[in-house]
Amino acid sequence: MPAPRKNPSRPGPRKGRGQQFDKPPISVFPSTLWTYPSQHYGATEHGDKNYVGATPSWVIWQLLSRYTREGDRVVDPMCGSGTTIDVSNDLSRTPRGFDINPSREGVERADARELPLPNAWADFVFIDPPYSTHIDYSDEPDCIGKLDASEPDREGVIGGDYYCAMRGTIKEAHRVLKNRRYMGLYVSDSFKKRKPNSDRPSFLPVGFELFSIMRDYFKPVDIIAVVRGNEKLTRGNWRKTAIEDNFFLRGFNYCFIMKKDDGKRGR
Ligand SMILES: C[S@@+](CC[C@H](N)C(=O)[O-])C[C@H]1O[C@@H](n2cnc3c(N)ncnc32)[C@H](O)[C@@H]1O
Repeated sequence: MPAPRKNPSRPGPRKGRGQQFDKPPISVFPSTLWTYPSQHYGATEHGDKNYVGATPSWVIWQLLSRYTREGDRVVDPMCGSGTTIDVSNDLSRTPRGFDINPSREGVERADARELPLPNAWADFVFIDPPYSTHIDYSDEPDCIGKLDASEPDREGVIGGDYYCAMRGTIKEAHRVLKNRRYMGLYVSDSFKKRKPNSDRPSFLPVGFELFSIMRDYFKPVDIIAVVRGNEKLTRGNWRKTAIEDNFFLRGFNYCFIMKKDDGKRGR
C-alpha cells in the first residue's frame, strides 16, 4: 500500500508546551455559518490531521447529527484518512469508506464513480472531493485530483475533464443513496495566481459548478459557509500579497446539503 502524503508542518491541537488546547464542547449549530477552533471535536482524533486535505471532523459530526440516526449507513466515496468512518463510529452509525488510494485499514479501494454497493443502500453520503489539482493526493491515474479545473478538455471546455469526473461521482452518490435521504458535499472555490498574459482563469468557481451539477440529481436543502482554519489566512506574507496583488485568500468552504427526492416513496 503506498504511503499517504502527509504534511508534517500542520499544527496539532496543542497551544503550548504540554498544554492542551481548550476546545468548546460540540453541539448542533443553528445557523448557516459554521466555525469551530479545531480540526477535531472531542478528546480523540478522527481521521488523520496530518493527511493533507483531511476534512474537519466536526463538519461531518454536524451533518451526521442532523441527517442520520443510530445505525444508519453512511458512505464516503472519497474517504482519505477515514474521518467519516471515525465520526460515524463515534455516533454509532454504520460507515463504508472508499478511496482510489486507501491510506489505512478500513478504507476500501474503489473509484467514487463506480462503488461496489447496491442501489439505494446508504442513508447518508458525505463527499469531500479534490478541488482541482491543488493537492497531490497520490500517483493513482484515476485520482480526480489530477484533473485541472482550469484546463480545457478536448473540446476546449474549461475544466471539462474535472467536472465530467465529478458528475460521475455525484451521479454514483445519487445511485447508492436511498430516496428521501441526504448527502453533504464539502468544497472550496479555487484561486491560482497567473502571469498577466496567461489564457487560464485565476478564479475557479468549483463550488458553484459542483452545486449546479448536483441540482441535476438532488434537491438543494441548504448551503453552509464553513470558516476555514487555513494557515495561509494567518500568515503575514500571504495576507500582504493578497492585498497588494488584489486577490482574496479563501476564507470559507461550502458545505452543500442535498436531498435525493425522486418523487416516489419506499424506494
Ligand atoms: C479532500 S480528500 C478527502 C479527505 C477525507 N474526507 C479525510 O478527512 O481524510 C479527497 C480524496 O479523494 C480521493 N480520490 C480522488 N479521486 C478519487 C476517485 N476517483 N475515487 C475515489 N477517491 C478518489 C483522494 O485519494 C483523496 O483521498
